[in-house]
Amino acid sequence: MCGIVGYVGNRDCTEVLMEGLSRLEYRGYDSAGIAVFEDQAIRVAKSKGRLADLQEKMKTEGVPKGHAGIGHTRWATHGEPSDRNSHPHGGGSVTIVHNGIIENYKRLKEFLLSKGIRFESDTDTEVVAQLLDYYYQKTPGNPVDAIIRTMQQLEGSYALGIIFADFPDMVFALRKESPLIVGVGENESFIASDVTAILRYTRKYFLLEPDEIAVLSRRETKIYDLHYRRIEKELKTADWDVSAAEKCGYEHFMLKEIHEQPTAVRTTITPRITEGMPDLTECGITPERLAAFRRIHVVACGTAMHAGMVGKYIIEKLAHVPVNVDIASEFRYREPLVGKGDLVIIISQSGETADSLAAMRLAKELGAETLAIVNAKGSSIAREADMLIYTHAGPEIAVASTKAYMVQIAVMYLLAFELAFAKGTITEEECRRLTALLQEVPEQIASLLEHKEMTQMIASELITADSLLYIGRGLDYALSMEGSLKLKEISYIHSESYAAGELKHGTISLITENMPVIAVATQRHLFDKTISNIKEVKARGAKVILVCHEGYTPEKDVADFCFPLPDFEDLLMPMLAVVPLQLIAYYTAVHKGTDVDKPRNLAKSVTVE
Ligand code: AGP
Repeated sequence: MCGIVGYVGNRDCTEVLMEGLSRLEYRGYDSAGIAVFEDQAIRVAKSKGRLADLQEKMKTEGVPKGHAGIGHTRWATHGEPSDRNSHPHGGGSVTIVHNGIIENYKRLKEFLLSKGIRFESDTDTEVVAQLLDYYYQKTPGNPVDAIIRTMQQLEGSYALGIIFADFPDMVFALRKESPLIVGVGENESFIASDVTAILRYTRKYFLLEPDEIAVLSRRETKIYDLHYRRIEKELKTADWDVSAAEKCGYEHFMLKEIHEQPTAVRTTITPRITEGMPDLTECGITPERLAAFRRIHVVACGTAMHAGMVGKYIIEKLAHVPVNVDIASEFRYREPLVGKGDLVIIISQSGETADSLAAMRLAKELGAETLAIVNAKGSSIAREADMLIYTHAGPEIAVASTKAYMVQIAVMYLLAFELAFAKGTITEEECRRLTALLQEVPEQIASLLEHKEMTQMIASELITADSLLYIGRGLDYALSMEGSLKLKEISYIHSESYAAGELKHGTISLITENMPVIAVATQRHLFDKTISNIKEVKARGAKVILVCHEGYTPEKDVADFCFPLPDFEDLLMPMLAVVPLQLIAYYTAVHKGTDVDKPRNLAKSVTVE
């Protein structure tokens, strides 16, 4: 959601900003803009649409030339996507870009209007720009003072990149909630919403904490707190290389990330297995600590919540501990019955999802212990959780999550095995057997990826559908939720996932020959029951695609296509069955010609509630 880049150095600033913004495109946006110091004056170029539209506009209106500036991709919150509402926004001598939401902007706007200040856009961001200028005019020549005074007035979540007309060789930045990093190069400095935007130039960066202000010049970066006291911070080194944020020959990031899943699983689980047993001690999790919890809540959004659903089934089955799965935006407002003795697991790829972060803070307030399963290093959720397991998927660029889901469920398996052993609900022998099987999963996924043709063929059958149903029982139902979300978010075909046994209580009335059904049946003890449910939809005309263990040849009254999965442990089948579902969604979107990596209206990291 919204991307910020800023630069000061000797390079062509416009080039650095546009390159950085292109790396942040995945976050989702509907307009873009830059502001660059050109001959000591601030020159702004902005446009509704994609970066390509901005490039086109600059071709006709001229490309700003300079060595310091700020850039932005905007995901509209206040005011429609338009040239006028695009960032950067100016207020007198101040120009800013902003990520987040200013909750009290109306009150601040009224105050500024009462001072005779006029506005050109509908955004909350322009209010901040004008407020900054208002304070700057009171203490001209002291930008940090104006920034501090402004921050004291702002409510909400935000990260800002700022330039002052009086300081043409400097960029200022600050954050509260919304993430921002400060990159450090040789005689150059950067700001960015995440490190992928600057990897091409440097891997050294500072992680800006809430209420910190960065002052960047060519030679140095200074960081201050709200009392204008200098802060010394640890310089971090990104362990991702540039290729991690590039397509490397794949048509889309999503396809690349689907193919990265075997490696992602291996990298995530290997350091957490010692002598054949799960070992989460490096994450602060001992078997005794785990076993002491009376109840578990998993709280997350979207795909991460679906990973929690798989977790629920396996933890309850293996460890006999009750698990509630909650959508974070519901959990935080429904006065949840959570407290001491409860473990609240927050799952998040970005670690910055506003609802998940708020839910975690609430859980802590209520006395529960929190465990975060997070992919983005140093993110807010990772920093604030009591216990932390990083998933090592590397950067996930496609908006539609694939490899992050895969490693989230891999971690849920490790947790379930460890907890079940600690509780004594499985023997050491069984724990070792399951852990060994989990280690075989990457190889199984890799072999599945070699047989993509069938998913391409299935996808070509789906492109004319207006609506689809995913059905399954138990773990297959949990998994089908993710399959359905993948399809709708990138192909724009409506779909729902349904517990197969629940269909005849209403939803079966929707079934016609125009509503294909993807049925997942990998759980052998439920197989016959799912097949009966499939026959019910088939009898009503639905085209059925069945995903199940190899070796089953469906009769004509069961399925039109069958995608065979390797004969593997039922409990671990979600890690295999999700692969064809991801590929079916991917190829359907490709056949339909949608913007696979940046689907309409979506943002990668949802930092507003
Ligand atoms: C999945 O494809 C989506 N991008 C979305 O549902 C995502 O999983 C959700 O917004 C949660 O994000 P997080 O993992 O970064 O918290």
